[in-house]
Amino acid sequence: MKYPDIEFDPFFTWYNRPRIMYAPGVRSEVGFEMGELGGTKAVIYTDKGLVNAGVSEMVAEAVRDSDLELVGIFDDIVQDARIDIINRGAEFYRKCGADCLIVVGGGSVMDTAKAVNIMVGGGHDDFQPLADQGALWEGAKPLPPHIVFPTTAGTGSEITNALVVLDVENEIKIGVSHPYNADIAMLDPELTVALPPKITAFTGMDALTHAVEGVTSTAAEPMGDAMGLHAIRLIFKYLPIAVKDPENIEARGHMLIASSLAALCFGNTMTGAVHATAHALGGKYGIPHGLANGIMLDIVMDFNVEEVPLRFLMVADAMGIDVSGKDPVEAGREAVQAVRDLKADIGLTDTLKDFDIPEDREKLMPLVEQAASDSQASYNPRYLEEEDILNLYLQAF
Ligand SMILES: [Fe+2]
Repeated sequence: MKYPDIEFDPFFTWYNRPRIMYAPGVRSEVGFEMGELGGTKAVIYTDKGLVNAGVSEMVAEAVRDSDLELVGIFDDIVQDARIDIINRGAEFYRKCGADCLIVVGGGSVMDTAKAVNIMVGGGHDDFQPLADQGALWEGAKPLPPHIVFPTTAGTGSEITNALVVLDVENEIKIGVSHPYNADIAMLDPELTVALPPKITAFTGMDALTHAVEGVTSTAAEPMGDAMGLHAIRLIFKYLPIAVKDPENIEARGHMLIASSLAALCFGNTMTGAVHATAHALGGKYGIPHGLANGIMLDIVMDFNVEEVPLRFLMVADAMGIDVSGKDPVEAGREAVQAVRDLKADIGLTDTLKDFDIPEDREKLMPLVEQAASDSQASYNPRYLEEEDILNLYLQAF
């Protein structure tokens, strides 16, 4: 495809902090690299599922084989980063006398650990006031050394400087950001082969959503395009393989790379209405983030195509659709269909009917209001009225 005449806002900044190391088995470098960062006593942050699957132990073993001392494993993290668990995680770090942290997990674990590091680095006892503040950039200081191993591909939280916290009481998800995220993201596909097909499928849809929304957002720019479009190419090729052949290291590795590429994109260009509607579904009804994105992605794309057709032409091309000579809107509609076909291929047939959500205009309004006030809604390429959001949800039943 010949590159179209794409416009972008002539002012943008590009943020890219964590060093990325990729290799099957790269965890063997964790002790040396942490030493280089100045860490001597590490706590591993993970969850019980990963402990039971033996995944956390793969990293713990690499630490024990090095000069780095393993002073504790905190495995109490559950779905979504929660304030009480973040506070306990920071208490655990101090009790263990740690001076650095290693993170082994998916989005909930990575976000919880990011928050823990902000707490211990800044000497805080309670994360609630920090969550209320949201942007923690003013006067921010470097934090203790932090190496992260994503076990899903994924949220991309290993790359971004944002984290999402669930406010359990108010059933909302709050975005928090701090300039000092992980020092090194170690992408080790051997840690992802134990991930069940269904979770592989919907976390892969999260990565795809980051790429599609990142490339079509109001803040899209050429550097984000490079990352996001290549992520789309890799996901369309390797996600079905990773779902059907879980131990395929090549597919798992490319999915980890795609997830990080997509995060380099959306971490700078933000997302849009898929994330806004998915955050509300997660906050109110507990739908896992990737699954909620997977349900909403094609519906929101269809809503957006006519607003930024050339951007959807590039998305369609990256998906492997032959767009030569095609009208950009037509190509964009084919991209929508390609997402639907991909979902069917990887067994993601869920709709909002599968959850206890009322299919009723009135009863959906609290959800609609929450999505409308989500920070990501304003980056959607097409302006969203509350009525539009309601219609997007109604199409998802
Ligand atoms: Fe996401």
